[in-house]
Amino acid sequence: MATIRLGDAAPDFTAETSMGALNFYDYLGDGWGILFSHPADFTPVCTTELGTAAKFKDEFAKRNVKMIALSVDGAASHAEWIKDINETQHTTVNFPIIADEDKRVANLYDMIHPNADNNLTVRSVYIVAPDKTVKLILTYPASTGRNFYELLRVVDSLQLTAYHKVATPANWEHGQDVVVSPAIPTNEAKEIFTKGVEEIKPYLRMTPDPTA
Ligand code: BEZ
Repeated sequence: MATIRLGDAAPDFTAETSMGALNFYDYLGDGWGILFSHPADFTPVCTTELGTAAKFKDEFAKRNVKMIALSVDGAASHAEWIKDINETQHTTVNFPIIADEDKRVANLYDMIHPNADNNLTVRSVYIVAPDKTVKLILTYPASTGRNFYELLRVVDSLQLTAYHKVATPANWEHGQDVVVSPAIPTNEAKEIFTKGVEEIKPYLRMTPDPTA
């Protein structure tokens, strides 16, 4: 298992899931992807996360992001667990959960951190761009459920900065002012960003969100 870093190609795989066997790259097609791991089936925090993820599916779909989860239990176990998630979280899990009993995908993506737990995955998140490169990696411990608003927010930032020469400041959300890329001289920035450029310092130039 090689370490995966930002900019690397996301490892491809074929795996059994709660929605049948699939190939990761084929599943993503030409869009973005979010792959996130769960320590185990029938665990409380994971149950709330998957219910929340299901409720966020439309928001990810609007951004052309396909969701895929992973847990190191089998497909039959996933099917039973999904019934519980749907019942307790008042939703319908509507994306695949990889049945990674042999931990093949978990190992491929370095989702098992032995000093945290030898057998279960941590809460990893990988966001993959349409060119199949890894754009974001997050790692949470089993005891902390993830914030899906933050995952949407970071997708907005990744998609904005993929297509515009900007970066997003702390706590940025879609529609708020963005930072002009440091590589662009201010005179050039003023031609590119027709909504205006405010030079606070020579290295700190702000412009309205070009997509808002
Ligand atoms: C949970 O999902 O609730 C969980 C899983 C493993 C360890 C701790 C919590």
